[in-house]
Amino acid sequence: MGTEFNNDTIEKAYARWAPIYDLVFGALFERARRAAAEAVNRVGGRVLEVGVGTGISLPDYGRVTRVVGVDLSEPMLRKAQEKIRDLHLTNVEGLSVMDAERMAFPDSSFDVIVAQLVVTTVPDPEATLDEFVRVLKPGGEIVLVSRVGADKGPRRVVEQWLTPITRFLGWRLEFPWGRYERWVERSGSVRVVERRAMPPFGHFSLIRFAKTKAAVAQPDRLEAQAAG
Ligand SMILES: C[S@@+](CC[C@H](N)C(=O)[O-])C[C@H]1O[C@@H](n2cnc3c(N)ncnc32)[C@H](O)[C@@H]1O
Repeated sequence: MGTEFNNDTIEKAYARWAPIYDLVFGALFERARRAAAEAVNRVGGRVLEVGVGTGISLPDYGRVTRVVGVDLSEPMLRKAQEKIRDLHLTNVEGLSVMDAERMAFPDSSFDVIVAQLVVTTVPDPEATLDEFVRVLKPGGEIVLVSRVGADKGPRRVVEQWLTPITRFLGWRLEFPWGRYERWVERSGSVRVVERRAMPPFGHFSLIRFAKTKAAVAQPDRLEAQAAG
């Protein structure tokens, strides 16, 4: 069993999951998905769903939204395309195969970035979150549903121990809240709006970040401006 966490592993994992994904993960995350869709619909406008997968959430986005979906996995996207066709989802602008870490959208393209059960599947979560911020308009929101692992204690040890197995399945178990805190601090252009525990077992969370309206000036740049 390979233990590497990279896009190749992920593509293979989700090619296996695509035919049965909705059956296995549909009901399990229904409440979390509904909460995420409510958050997205409150903002409305142009929405990017990253890791849209089989498009399981697409029917939940209201007519106040125009949705673009991206995913690394073509077999998952084919399922999403079927849903768009069968359910006549006219608010979905399009789906593309794309890597969440390097997206082909200009800066500030979307009012909302939503990613459900995705941050713990990408090789470099912090770089991927940076990319979300880049394509998000100032004042826009990032809406995540994600597993939040333990920061310490026996649960963290178990999560680290099980990670080689869950990598094969397509996600990592260990992802403590502290990583988000450090990312927010480093980013300087987002703040946490909400963190709400979600089933199953309260191990998942709905997490919302807002992008600040004005870019945060770096102290060295301020000094240079003052001197100039
Ligand atoms: C656990 S599934 C979640 C699917 C869907 N968002 C949901 O709520 O059920 C993770 C999805 O993220 C996609 N994914 C993983 N890494 C990715 C990346 N680097 N870029 C784009 N999509 C990625 C996978 O292909 C898969 O469809």
